[in-house]
Amino acid sequence: MKTLKLGIAGLGHVGCGLIELVERQAGLRLPGEVQITGVSARSRSRKRPVSIEPYKWFDDAAQLAVSDDIDIFVELMGGSDGPAKVAVEAALKAGKPVVTANKALIAEHGQALADIAEGQGIDLLFEAAVAGGVPVVRVLRDSLSGVEIERVAGILNGTCNFLTTTMLETGRPYAEVLEEAQRLGFAEADPTLDVSGMDAAYKIAILSAMAFSASLDFSKVAIHGVDGVGLFDLKLADRLGYRIKLIAEGVLTEDGVICRVAPMALPVSHPLAQVNGSLNTVRIEGAPLGAVTLTGPGAGPGPTASAVMGDIAKLFNPGVRSAFGRAAHHVTRKFISASEEEQSAYFIRARLSDRSGALARLSEALAAHGVSVDQLLQESAGADQASPIAIVTHVSARKQVDAAMAQLSQLDVLVDEARLIRIEAG
Ligand code: HSE
Repeated sequence: MKTLKLGIAGLGHVGCGLIELVERQAGLRLPGEVQITGVSARSRSRKRPVSIEPYKWFDDAAQLAVSDDIDIFVELMGGSDGPAKVAVEAALKAGKPVVTANKALIAEHGQALADIAEGQGIDLLFEAAVAGGVPVVRVLRDSLSGVEIERVAGILNGTCNFLTTTMLETGRPYAEVLEEAQRLGFAEADPTLDVSGMDAAYKIAILSAMAFSASLDFSKVAIHGVDGVGLFDLKLADRLGYRIKLIAEGVLTEDGVICRVAPMALPVSHPLAQVNGSLNTVRIEGAPLGAVTLTGPGAGPGPTASAVMGDIAKLFNPGVRSAFGRAAHHVTRKFISASEEEQSAYFIRARLSDRSGALARLSEALAAHGVSVDQLLQESAGADQASPIAIVTHVSARKQVDAAMAQLSQLDVLVDEARLIRIEAG
């Protein structure tokens, strides 16, 4: 039976999850045996749920990456630059296949790394970088090679989905629910990466580059997070028949690929509105397929380690393919920004001073820019004399809605910043 020797750099939640999985591999369906021969992390002595005593310790991940003792370098350190990038480049240049869960690294430098891997004729695999245990990378790259993909969209951050779902279900505040997501091991070491939308942005950028054979330009990804989405927004949207969720999408247009992440209001009957907790889901649409949806645990040590192990299993029979599905020189499309002419309905939430004429001023701001109201909900002002208002607009061009919001932001009847959320068509 063939044996593959692993060097694992990064021993956080996922690294420890992988060690546990290797230790009980008899129950898995691997084509051969996996052995850990070397490990590296920031701290050797940190308390961990697994013992690292049996494995050779390396202070420097880059030395582990080129060690003669390993067949595969497994990078679980994180970070787009610094030690993770140095070590992955070193491994590839030394002819060692790399398995990584590092979405920041792949989103920022994946295509350059893929070029090195292609040049060496070795694999660079990153299933665990996107949607944890949901096998979307391999499906896009291999199984859906015969589909002309038009849109990839979904829920790609478990922490944000857990936040918005749990806050609405339990009425608990944002900070408390975020702490729970950290305790459960969903959140990044720095959870601002989750709530700012950055984590989901890395993932959708990777999927879009693969789905559309596009040159990945992370600077073009529009990123808005759930930080600032309050219980108040979630409840008002709920009363109007919508769920607010952080949605990541990549869309192919005639001019290029639009890639973005933002909270969106989904009609409660929309399939993505039913995806709750830390689950991730990805819907891939294209011809002649129609649509396929993959849903599952997108965060946490177990699911992510299982995806890493799936990539390791593939390396028993490499059959190298370019990491993004198409060799770099065949990549033709570009990432672009969304057009201001784009048409959509919007959910607007504002708090107005509880005095006569306040609502009229809000309506004037919308009407001045041709934005028409489809639904309106006003609640009684609380002790703070601020009336919560939620509006669903008819379909309008983004530039009209932005102009109306700019006018609205100047009104003295506005108590605090109004919020604008695009509505996903039902
Ligand atoms: N922090 C990520 C999430 C998990 O919450 O989805 C790994 O990407």
